[in-house]
Amino acid sequence: MKSILHRKLASFLMACVGLLISFSSCTKAIIEEPDPNNLPTLNRPIKYNPDVQNIMFNHCTTCHGGSNPNAGLDLTTYQNVRQSAEQGNLNQRMNDAANPMPQGGLLPPDQRQIIAKWIQDGFPEN
Ligand code: HEC
Repeated sequence: MKSILHRKLASFLMACVGLLISFSSCTKAIIEEPDPNNLPTLNRPIKYNPDVQNIMFNHCTTCHGGSNPNAGLDLTTYQNVRQSAEQGNLNQRMNDAANPMPQGGLLPPDQRQIIAKWIQDGFPEN
């Protein structure tokens, strides 16, 4: 009688440990920063207008726009975004989890992949 109880208790404990392990691996998967380079290749053409412009206007220009843009960086025009990507650190900051842009945290990998492809393709405008 007693040993059956012990065995039940043991298997219950094992189940708990198993649950804990699977929970912690779930949490890890969410926290780990996904790599935009590991996504399936983007096969459609990427243009400043509309792809890159949409990302800038949705996530960047509240700070990097207007009469007094943060860091003196205006990201509301093709020329400015291109210059920051080509000569500045736009893409680097968009992929730097320790110092991210936007400041609140990295954009989802599919958004960052769009920027990376745009740069790789030579900054197509329209
Ligand atoms: C909430 C405001 C805010 C948002 C949103 C924001 N930024 Fe910034 N950004 C700043 C501030 C403030 C700085 C200057 C401090 C720093 O470098 O962290 C800055 C700096 C930068 C720099 C470095 C400029 C330099 O000369 O070194 C880049 C590049 C940049 N941001 C790009 C972006 C991009 C691209 C986005 C959108 C994906 C974005 N930022 C969204 C506030 C913001």
